[in-house]
Amino acid sequence: MTVENKVALVTGAGQGIGRGIALRLAQDGFDVAIADLAAQEEKGQGVVSEIEALGRKAIFVAADVSKRDDIVGAVDAAAQKLGGFDVIVNNAGIAQIKPILDITEDELNSIFQINVNSVVWGIQAAAAKFDELGHGGKIISAASIAAIQGFPILSAYSASKFAVRGFTQAAAQELAPKGITVNAYAPGIVGTGMWEKIDAELSKINGKPIGQNLKENVEGIALGRIETPEDVAKVVSFFAGPDSDYVTGQVLLVDGGMLYN
Ligand SMILES: NC(=O)c1ccc[n+]([C@@H]2O[C@H](COP(=O)([O-])OP(=O)(O)OC[C@H]3O[C@@H](n4cnc5c(N)ncnc54)[C@H](O)[C@@H]3O)[C@@H](O)[C@H]2O)c1
Repeated sequence: MTVENKVALVTGAGQGIGRGIALRLAQDGFDVAIADLAAQEEKGQGVVSEIEALGRKAIFVAADVSKRDDIVGAVDAAAQKLGGFDVIVNNAGIAQIKPILDITEDELNSIFQINVNSVVWGIQAAAAKFDELGHGGKIISAASIAAIQGFPILSAYSASKFAVRGFTQAAAQELAPKGITVNAYAPGIVGTGMWEKIDAELSKINGKPIGQNLKENVEGIALGRIETPEDVAKVVSFFAGPDSDYVTGQVLLVDGGMLYN
């Protein structure tokens, strides 16, 4: 599948799954805005260079996705500098590894601001830009296997991803008359910085050696290997391109066979 003269913005694209998505969308023909925290600018500029090497345009935009103004500014910058706006991927997110009895008010507020509020701001900013440009578009957000089933020690994370699923289903129905589709991808266990952190924190809680928690989780995957950002990016490529034009409100598991619904 290739597209022409289309622009996508991917949040949290300085590393991990977001970087994989940005590179895949560039291969599909999109020009891509890489949005991430200012502290990630060096990595983000690296992804910009990788995209330029593929012959597509790219920019880095510093944005904290928990702040509505930052997302609106990032969408404006993408549209202005890349000459259009067609797809937003609300990918940035964090995990918290905490027994439910220990979660603090600040921690709960913080994970919801980053994982949930960001999706609402992304939906609002993208829909307003599509309206301004006089066409529909595609909104795609990061859910998780934890959006389908609650996981122990990841309760706030699970709840935040359930919320992403709720917003995806409701927004799909509200925005369908505008020609906007709203979908989400639900990865399983992807070998990124996020899982390094989850493994290290779980090991503090259950005393297993570093790497053991990750290994045990990967052993439960039907297809028998850890997931890569490229595995996730293939699903996002489908949601971003014309082959998904009649698909909306869906949360698609891409987990190598962990959950079945
Ligand atoms: N790694 C997995 O196994 C897995 C599984 C299911 C879902 N996911 C989801 O996929 C998405 C990407 O995860 P990843 O594994 O690539 O994580 P990662 O930690 O490797 O990368 C996350 C990126 O998001 C950025 N980010 C964090 N907070 C931000 C903020 N407030 N504003 C802007 N950017 C911010 C980080 O700087 C980083 O570049 C997340 O939403 C995550 O919940 C990951």
